[in-house]
Amino acid sequence: MISEETIARVRESVNLVEVVRETVPNLKKSGRNYVARCPFHQERTPSFSVNTEMGVFKCFGCGVGGDAFKFVMLTEGLTYPEAIRKLATRVGITIEEARSEAVSAAEKERQVLYGLLEDAARFYHRHLLESAEARPAREYLEKRGLSQESLVKFQIGFAPSSGQALREAAGRKGWSIETLEKAGLLRRKEGTGHVFDHFWSRIMFPIWDTQGRIIAFGGRAMGEALPKYINSPETPVYSKSRHLYGLFQGLPSLRKQRHVVILEGYMDVAMCHQYGFETTAATLGTALTEEHVRLLRRYAENVTLLFDPDTAGANATLRGGELLIEEGFQVRVVTLPDGQDADEVLVREGREALEGHIAQSVSFIDYCMAGALRRHPGLAPETKLAVAKEVLPLIRKIKDPLLQDEHLTRLAEAIKADKAILGQQMVKGVPSGRPGRQELSKATVVPFPPERRGVLLSLEEEILLLALLYPSEAVAENLETLAWRDARCAEVWKAIAGPVSDGAVRLGDVLPKLSESTQAWLTPLALQQRSYGAPLDRLYEFLESWRRQQASNELRDLQSEIDSMIEGRIPMDSRKIQNYNELSRRLKGSKILPREAPFHG
Ligand code: CTP
Ligand code: MN
Repeated sequence: MISEETIARVRESVNLVEVVRETVPNLKKSGRNYVARCPFHQERTPSFSVNTEMGVFKCFGCGVGGDAFKFVMLTEGLTYPEAIRKLATRVGITIEEARSEAVSAAEKERQVLYGLLEDAARFYHRHLLESAEARPAREYLEKRGLSQESLVKFQIGFAPSSGQALREAAGRKGWSIETLEKAGLLRRKEGTGHVFDHFWSRIMFPIWDTQGRIIAFGGRAMGEALPKYINSPETPVYSKSRHLYGLFQGLPSLRKQRHVVILEGYMDVAMCHQYGFETTAATLGTALTEEHVRLLRRYAENVTLLFDPDTAGANATLRGGELLIEEGFQVRVVTLPDGQDADEVLVREGREALEGHIAQSVSFIDYCMAGALRRHPGLAPETKLAVAKEVLPLIRKIKDPLLQDEHLTRLAEAIKADKAILGQQMVKGVPSGRPGRQELSKATVVPFPPERRGVLLSLEEEILLLALLYPSEAVAENLETLAWRDARCAEVWKAIAGPVSDGAVRLGDVLPKLSESTQAWLTPLALQQRSYGAPLDRLYEFLESWRRQQASNELRDLQSEIDSMIEGRIPMDSRKIQNYNELSRRLKGSKILPREAPFHG
């Protein structure tokens, strides 16, 4: 482990501009910043900027950003500690590994937390089984169909309703308030500093790591009370992006089958086990992350995604599936009928029914292709292109060449296209999807823009199309300050801002001002016939969604920065946390930003 002090010294000593210049030679000074075309996605106008004062880089086109360590991690494919070492060598700082006492201090702290969490689980479990107060909870769980055996297997418990019970019981056993707080079992009221149990009057699901240690809890409200679940916060032993519920209980079977079914909920996993589906695990209120995928690598080659059949579930399937095929997993998808989850299928129709649904799973690529064909019906040239654009980047990511070829054949058949040409397009890379981490780490210009562009692109295309179809001064004014994330849209906007404001855009006048590839991209888009009803209202809606996406992208970036601060055990930057809280508060509200707020930055 590298000491925090050393990390800070390296960060301060490194000249970020020099580091970046090695990869991006044409970095130019512009005001207080340095700018260039982004090395992480293809663009014509520079949206990549380095701020030396703050020691950070940021691309306003694709959203990637961070400090010098992050830059080296991305361009050279290094881990965080490797990046620190590399930059330390560069500035002549010797890395003394933190003394082993310091290492064992952190480790010791974790051991203490494991001990406390196990005690807490025992306390909740005993309370569920024995206390009079927990009778409704026992009846509820029985009604849900959970057997006594399952209650024991998953050590399900009940948190007393007083809000003090755990603290008192733990206090009697000698656990300090600080330790309880660190383990995420106590909350402190803002202002008064008054502490109370994090969980009260809830059915408790302990969460294990793969070594069988209890690391956190999920607490379900009784009946319809809200919020339905309260979970442990992130602690030195728990991160929701790194753990899967039920994986530990499934390990003995998983080691034999090397196939895991990923579900969404605690109840689903517990019920699946009860019905004999032991190689199941659930994400903990997040999408499947790269860390989850890495964890699964140790135990399986085959993954079946069985998420709830709602929008969130569909998104989780797309994102999770992509991460999994990038890592060489064979991925299948199960869609359950009528908005049911695995638990409901089991309770209503029994084991065979769920088995039947799992047997009818389709491969992830087929699932995506079916979705694309549904969204773009017919065989018009633009439609076929749209389907290919969605599916090719995914096929490209398949590691096994035979499997890749098979899916290419299927795509060609589905859209009646020439397979050879599709193959060429696939290799060239069509603009969509996100690149794999290795692709980013090659430090070359990747052939398609990284991260989240698939979704964002269509919204920005939509905005652009509206401006083309309904040019007016009001439209132009509203788009004046929009910081387009898609470089092509930005390029087009520059060319049409004047004509839009004047109320008439002639494509023939605009095209010559654009680069060849942007022309080729814009032409079919501009020829789309669409009617937007009340265009200004639609524009406001689009801009509202745009801001929402922007906020949620920033939130995700911050989340991963915060995660890596946790991972690297770097002291928390309180501004980042504040920023994070502020953003997530806004995202929860119906409006992201007041309309007059600027779009950029
Ligand atoms: N979840 C959460 N916080 C919420 C709602 C859900 O963390 N407020 C997470 C939990 O991990 C939960 C999972 O998302 O298990 C799935 O949520 P949901 O489908 O709503 O609940 P179920 O697990 O199906 O629970 P139940 O069957 O008891 O309704
Ligand atoms: Mn459920």
